[in-house]
Amino acid sequence: MKLAIGNDHVAVDMKNEIRDFLESRGVEVIDVGTHDRGRFNYPVSGYRVARLVADGEVDGGVLICGTGVGISLAANKVKGIRACVCSDPYTAKLSKQHNNTNIIAFGARVIGPELAKMIVEEWMNAKFEGGRHQTRVDMITEIEETQHLNAQE
Ligand code: RB5
Repeated sequence: MKLAIGNDHVAVDMKNEIRDFLESRGVEVIDVGTHDRGRFNYPVSGYRVARLVADGEVDGGVLICGTGVGISLAANKVKGIRACVCSDPYTAKLSKQHNNTNIIAFGARVIGPELAKMIVEEWMNAKFEGGRHQTRVDMITEIEETQHLNAQE
């Protein structure tokens, strides 16, 4: 498995820990930064990771900022990206099984590194279940591509 990881200035330590954790699990990691603690605008790393995921260069992405909110919002503006902020392993797992998320995000100011590792592990080991969930994900894609949704329920 190959994942991209990105962060802003408040999440450098958390990112380093998660990157090392992923590599210890045999995951190939592309770290798009930032690597230092000077102010860094989270949309930059959110976009870099989203681009790699949308272009099929990696199997998925991990994004970390203070809350996980800004960086996931930025990533979700790239076509084909389904990024969600998670603070618990259950949501992380279900976000892959039901929503086929291709990026997981969390906040370095919200959760600690051990919980973050559990979240990432549940997420990367989960599989999209397809079926009725595919129909719903297709509806999300329809909204993304057309700015409309034909189905009413
Ligand atoms: C940076 O201060 C903070 O706004 C950022 O890390 C993130 O929480 C934004 O959503």
